[in-house]
Amino acid sequence: MPLVMPIYGTRPEAIKMAPIVAALQQSSSLDQFTTVTGQHRSMLDQVNSIFGIVPDHDLNIFAPGQTLNGILTKTIDGLDKLFSVNRPDAVVVQGDTTTSTAGAIAAFYHSIPVVHAEAGLRSGDLFSPFPEEANRKITSQIASLHLAPTSTSRANLLRENIPSADIVVTGNTVIDALFMTVDKKVPFTDPALEELAARDEKILLVTTHRRENQGEAMRGVGRALARIADAEPDLIIVVPLHKNPLVREAVIPAIEGKKNVLIVEPLPYGEFTRMLSMSHLVLTDSGGVQEEAPSLGKPVLVMRENTERPEAVDAGTVKLIGTDEDRIVAEVDQLLNVRGYYDSMANAVNPYGDGKAAARTVAAIEQMLGIGSRIADFGD
Ligand code: UD1
Ligand code: UDP
Repeated sequence: MPLVMPIYGTRPEAIKMAPIVAALQQSSSLDQFTTVTGQHRSMLDQVNSIFGIVPDHDLNIFAPGQTLNGILTKTIDGLDKLFSVNRPDAVVVQGDTTTSTAGAIAAFYHSIPVVHAEAGLRSGDLFSPFPEEANRKITSQIASLHLAPTSTSRANLLRENIPSADIVVTGNTVIDALFMTVDKKVPFTDPALEELAARDEKILLVTTHRRENQGEAMRGVGRALARIADAEPDLIIVVPLHKNPLVREAVIPAIEGKKNVLIVEPLPYGEFTRMLSMSHLVLTDSGGVQEEAPSLGKPVLVMRENTERPEAVDAGTVKLIGTDEDRIVAEVDQLLNVRGYYDSMANAVNPYGDGKAAARTVAAIEQMLGIGSRIADFGD
């Protein structure tokens, strides 16, 4: 049987690859061999354990504070050695991390076909998000099969002269992962969150980590949260903080000690999706959270100047607000206090998927490997 190798290394890739790994494990026509780079360590291992994935191979490249070039070169070197002894018929990479692009380059140089999940997202600005916009464009140049989550991302690829026969619209597997998890009501590990779940409070859920926001912009986010906490004593602000020390140093000083702010460790995926469903609104610079929250009808304020995910913005559930401190405070105030405004944004929309993206992914790989026929695109 043809051997397919999913390769991933960070939290969001693990969440979005988990449904693909599960679908490959169930396939009667493909074998799979899961390889992780360990670009993230604790946050990656947390997701794998939730989805019951034990990687077949771990490059274990993690080092605190590692550079992008360090991640790239260690990944390529590790995969180069692995492909010499265990050569798959195709690799699957996901999205736009450095693990993802390094995996694609390493496979391409071994003439192994690259399957790119979540292909075709474009912000239009090479430097934002950095380095992700460049990463995904590089991967598009060398992939053999492009799995676009939406027709918008398909159109982006066609504009770049990717042949339409090599593009399949699958939906985003993040919605598969969300549907697999969100109704389970996983107990919170942190007693403060379980206690919060028992009360009927308005929750503002906040995540931030983007490299281009680190430094002064992220300190401004911290100051904005402090001002919101003071202005809205009945609002509970929950901040699951990324493991990156640069994020922690920027955000914590302004908000620590405030009694309506709960700063917690990165939440295991099941706990995070439960918190998302308990939240009143979401403030984030995350890509994945922008895709998940609309599905639950939660208004999302995105602390970025642009987005490669315009679908939920068009649907009115997501709003781009940038990172200016005063603007963040004003936008949250509007959502909490302007009558009718919250309801106009709180629409449950599912532009990113229907929970069947992993099945379409496996079918598209089978077709690429000559053992299946072309499937219908998601949304058609
Ligand atoms: C990476 C991805 C980004 C993705 C994000 C998801 C790249 C270039 N960026 O960014 O696209 O949105 O992951 O979270 O690939 N750290 C730990 N433990 C962990 C994870 C991170 O200590 O489990 C710390 C380390 O000090 C590490 C730092 O966080 O050096 C940054 O991690 P890194 O993978 O370099 O980039 P991210 O900014 O997390
Ligand atoms: N997430 C999580 N725990 C947290 C915060 C986020 O499990 O404490 C999940 C979230 O549901 C989403 C993913 O992590 O699926 C997003 O990861 P991140 O924001 O780190 O990266 P991005 O999506 O921006 O690449």
